[in-house]
Amino acid sequence: MNNFKEAFEKTRISGNIAARALDEVARIMKPGIKTEEIDNLCYEFINDHGAYSAPLFYRGYPKSCCTSTNHIVCHGIPSNKVLKEGDIINVDVTALKDGWHGDTSRTFEIGEVSVKAKNLVKTTYEAMMKAIKIVRDGVYFGDIGSTIQNHVEAQGFSVVQDFCGHGIGKSFHEEPNVLHYGEKGTGEKVKTGMIFTIEPMINLGNHETKTLNDGWTAVTKDKSLSAQFEHTIGVTSDSCEIFTLSKK
Ligand code: MF3
Ligand code: CO
Ligand code: CO
Repeated sequence: MNNFKEAFEKTRISGNIAARALDEVARIMKPGIKTEEIDNLCYEFINDHGAYSAPLFYRGYPKSCCTSTNHIVCHGIPSNKVLKEGDIINVDVTALKDGWHGDTSRTFEIGEVSVKAKNLVKTTYEAMMKAIKIVRDGVYFGDIGSTIQNHVEAQGFSVVQDFCGHGIGKSFHEEPNVLHYGEKGTGEKVKTGMIFTIEPMINLGNHETKTLNDGWTAVTKDKSLSAQFEHTIGVTSDSCEIFTLSKK
């Protein structure tokens, strides 16, 4: 059997830095802030904790985190865009420390948001947590996907298919692809020691996305709202450890 102790120990550290960066982000979230202020905070916090922001210069990506508002599905680039009451925004951070990555995101509500938006955000979070709760040695990746898909479609929302979760470790993105939809009992089996993300992107409208001319920003084709949450987890014989859990 692989010795995964070191991988777990190191990912626990990078994951904790990423989670705490988001705790700091939560404190500054309010109408009037610019998404580049969120980026600066993430850059500083992660640096101050002896880590790198893995997104910065990753395949040419220009910033330290992703800020995806409203109909942006993922990979929104921080800018001088000002947040306003009623927006939802996903902030996705990845810390690289001592050679290992920890990747996590949350969707925040700016002031009071619509009932629909609230339900979308809540359902997305529930879907991720429901999937995490079934993970242990021997389940199928299809079990993870179907758990998310069933929960989300019961609310009339749809699962994005163009982006998925991923193995993570010494590289930011590695095998396997972790689909957020699928059939129970299909695909590869989850094995003890595996480290991967679960990061469902859920749309209020249909699942289709397109990428803008900046080469990064992915949006819903129908301009409907989209929410996302992400944790990095490590599989054990009878459950999994969430490396990016907030202690708050
Ligand atoms: N953090 C994202 C993920 O969950 C990836 C961002 S890549 C970037 O996989 F280059 F856009 F930052
Ligand atoms: Co990820
Ligand atoms: Co991420």
